[in-house]
Parts: sequence; C-alpha cells; structure tokens
Amino acid sequence: MLNQTALYEYVRTRLSLPRFLHSIRTAETAVELCRRYGLSLEEAYVSGIAHDMAREIAVAQVMQLANADSLPLLEEELQRPVLLHGRAAAVLLQTSWGEKRHTVLNAVRWHTQGHSDMGDLGKVLYIADFIEPGRSHITEDFRASILHLESIDWMLKKILEAQFSHLREKQVEISTYALELYNTLEENTLEERLYAKI
Ligand SMILES: [Fe+2]
Ligand SMILES: [Fe+2]
Repeated sequence: MLNQTALYEYVRTRLSLPRFLHSIRTAETAVELCRRYGLSLEEAYVSGIAHDMAREIAVAQVMQLANADSLPLLEEELQRPVLLHGRAAAVLLQTSWGEKRHTVLNAVRWHTQGHSDMGDLGKVLYIADFIEPGRSHITEDFRASILHLESIDWMLKKILEAQFSHLREKQVEISTYALELYNTLEENTLEERLYAKI
C-alpha cells in the first residue's frame, strides 16, 4: 500500500504553499463526498493529495511523463500542456509510488480534463477540486447548490456546464474528453430529466 505520509511530504515539498493547501482541502472535500456515497475514504484522500503533484513541474517533463502512458497526445494537449498535469501525475503515482489501483490512477489522470472513464472516484475528485472551500472562483451559493444535488452525475454535470460557459466566454476550446464526459452524463441523467421535465 502506498505510504500516505511519504506522499504527503513529497507533495508538500514540491508545491507552492497555496497549491499544497488546495490539495489538502481537495482531499478533505473528496473524503466527505466519498463518505456520502459509500466510496473508499482512503482512495479519496490519496487522490486528493496527489492530484496536482505534477502541476509545478517544467512543461517539458510534464509532457515526457504524460507521454509514458499508452494514450496519444491530442493536439489540444500539445497546445495547452497544462491539461497534461493529471496524466503526468498518474504516471508518477504508478511508476514512482507503486500505486496500482485503477480507481486512484484514473481519478488523478482525468482530474484536469474529465473523461467518460474517470469512474466515481474520478468524478468525486473533479467535483472536490472545483468546490473545495478555498476556491474563490465560485460563490457560496454555487457551492451550496452543488452539494445540495443528490447524485454525483448531477453535481458533475452542473460543474461542467459552468466551466463550459466560462470557456466559451474566454473563447477557449472545450476539451474533447470533457465533451465526451458531458454527453455520457446527459445519457446517465436522461431518465430523471424526462421524469422531472428538466
Ligand atoms: Fe490540477
Ligand atoms: Fe487542483
């Protein structure tokens, strides 16, 4: 099993203080969400602490790390390498830390872009990363409205909608993986939406 204390120390010494504190709050928020949905609290904590571990590594190294997984590098990832810090962190976790659980690796891998294969833990991590209490880009009302929703899919869908409208305002292209994820969430929630006429 991965050594949590050593991972914590590694992340603490490699991230700026604000980002390290963000990682702790993301881990704590992910743990709370996992408690609510009956998912592993330990996996939530590890994913939260580790998710941004490659965020302050030089671009060339991030690309090299990300390129070591079996996936192609998409044009949009090459143009915006910051998108790759999740993939790079998953490679680091697997190769340097011996993390083998696909739940944890997928969650960390896709916390930046989202992905239809991110799994429930990945969805929780994505939500926690966006709404942890130190985030000032959202209002308290928005945070409360997310937490008020019953299902993980509904929470994630609402967050993606907010992100998409923000990206459109800034005229930044929405990533392919995020769009695929959104379409999957639309399908997952279709029955409820039809029933509720939302
Ligand atoms: Fe990140
Ligand atoms: Fe983050």
